[in-house]
Amino acid sequence: MDPRAEVVTVDITTLDVDMIVNAANKGLAGGGGVDGAIHRAAGASELREACRKLGGCDTGDAKLTPGFNLKAEWIAHAVGPVWNGGRDGEEALLASCYLRSLELAHQVGAKSIAFPAISTGVYRFPTRRAAEIAVATVDEELSGNNDLQKVILCCFSDDSARLHRQAMEARA
Ligand code: APR
Repeated sequence: MDPRAEVVTVDITTLDVDMIVNAANKGLAGGGGVDGAIHRAAGASELREACRKLGGCDTGDAKLTPGFNLKAEWIAHAVGPVWNGGRDGEEALLASCYLRSLELAHQVGAKSIAFPAISTGVYRFPTRRAAEIAVATVDEELSGNNDLQKVILCCFSDDSARLHRQAMEARA
C-alpha cells in the first residue's frame, strides 16, 4: 500500500487537508450523516447556495465547491451508489466516486485529500467490500501520481477503521 495513504478515526470536518470529500446525494441538496456534518461545519447557507448552482450530480461522479468555514479549501461532493444487492454496477460506481474526486484534486492542485466511507451509511453498501474498493482505488491511483502528498481514509467508527486497515494490509 502506498505510504501516502492512511486511516484515521475522526470527524472529517475537523481535518486540515486541502480537500475533503462529501458523501452527497444526486440533488446535492444536503442531508444527514457526513453530508449534514459537512454542511453545518462549512456554513449551511453558503454551501447550500454553492451546491444549488451545480445543478445536481450523477451517481459515481463528483463536483466541487469551496470549503467555506472548513480548514479544507475544497469540498468534492461525490454521489455514491445506493446498494441494491450489487446488481446495478454499485462496485464500479463506488470506485468512480474515489477516482473522480482524485481527478478534481489534481485539477485544482490539492496536495492532500480526505475521504469518508462513501455509501456505507444510509446507502447501505457492505462495509468490508466498500473498504476494499476504497483502498484498491486509492492505491492504484497513487501509484501513477506524484502530486498528492496525503490521502486520508477518514472513518467514523473503530469497526470501519479496522476494515480499512485490513484492506490495506492485504495489499502491503
Ligand atoms: N466524519 C466522517 N465520517 C462520517 C461522519 C463524519 N462527521 N458522519 C458520518 N460518517 C460516516 C458514516 O459512519 C458512514 O460510514 O460516513 C459514512 C457514510 O455514511 P452516510 O453519511 O450515511 O453517507 P452514504 O451512505 O453515502 O449516504 C448518502 O445520506 O446524508 C445523506 O445526503 C446524503 O442522501 C445522501 C446519503
